Amino acid sequence: MPPSMEAAGLTKRYGSFTALSDLNLKLEGTKCVGFLGPNGAGKTTTMKMFTGLISPTGGKAMINGVEIREDKKKALGSCASLIETPEIYPALTAREALMMLAELRGVPKGERLKRIDEALGRVKMQEWEDKKVGSFSKGMKQRVNVASTLLTDPQVIILDEPSTGLDPRGMSEVRDIVKSLGNRLVFMSSHLLSEVTDVCHEVAMIDHGKLLVYDTISNVTAKFSDGGGMVEVGFSREVDDEPAGRIRKMEGVLEVRKSNGRHLIVKFAGGLEAQENLFEQVAGLGKGIVSFKETSSGLEEAYLKLIKETV
Ligand SMILES: Nc1ncnc2c1ncn2[C@@H]1O[C@H](COP(=O)(O)OP(=O)(O)OP(=O)(O)O)[C@@H](O)[C@H]1O
Ligand SMILES: [Mg+2]
Repeated sequence: MPPSMEAAGLTKRYGSFTALSDLNLKLEGTKCVGFLGPNGAGKTTTMKMFTGLISPTGGKAMINGVEIREDKKKALGSCASLIETPEIYPALTAREALMMLAELRGVPKGERLKRIDEALGRVKMQEWEDKKVGSFSKGMKQRVNVASTLLTDPQVIILDEPSTGLDPRGMSEVRDIVKSLGNRLVFMSSHLLSEVTDVCHEVAMIDHGKLLVYDTISNVTAKFSDGGGMVEVGFSREVDDEPAGRIRKMEGVLEVRKSNGRHLIVKFAGGLEAQENLFEQVAGLGKGIVSFKETSSGLEEAYLKLIKETV
């Protein structure tokens, strides 16, 4: 059975304030789903209900078809999460910290060391396993935190803003780890649209406790930006107006603008086929082009539009 997470009418009220309102969302299969929404939208609230940290005031949260309230142990047996980044005891070594967590999470005694080795290997921290966590950088601590979610070899992983507070290298490390998780259902909240574009296949967006959209990134971008896609074309030197003018005349191109001296942002109509076609034409320009990549601006445009519509 593929891993799944399902919210059915999931609601959380604090007094008269509704933090999450009637969320219906089913995620199924091995993939990474980004969870987007402005501050206070209800992302952490949703994730906390999926991990049994708080109880819903209405509706159900289910993991692999098992409702968390009904059978917490079974539902969470195949799920691991990282919510509001926990502090690890600084006096423990990485291995000691993970040993404690493995015990806490019921990993059988004989398997603990092997699982810890595997988890530390996945986050590339093996060399550091006997060093004290207190001496680690934020990014290294976060890698240990991510390793802790892998101890039980979960099918479902819930990550609440895993790269927040990290420097660019730390962010890129966490991103690579999430990408390498494979074969699982990963549900990850983030404020970084470039990260979500890079790591996730699908996105769910919420605002004011209500789901706005759940779809693949390309469908959301196509539907809620002005349609089509956006790519960034990189040049080896400062671009003048000539290549921009020539790209503007290419079939399907809607808009061309400079993003900085050496890059052009090209908006075009259509899907992957149009992008392929555009790539061939742009590559044929011979103007010192060194890169051609999808940008997150499409998702950003869709995000801003969707969020604005609900205000
Ligand atoms: N214990 C609580 N009591 C009262 N209100 C709460 C409580 N916890 C959360 N809220 C409110 O619920 C709303 C949703 O909060 P939540 O933490 O889920 O947002 P979020 O989408 O995770 O935001 P951020 O991006 O800032 O992390 C907020 O308005 C918050 O103030
Ligand atoms: Mg939050």
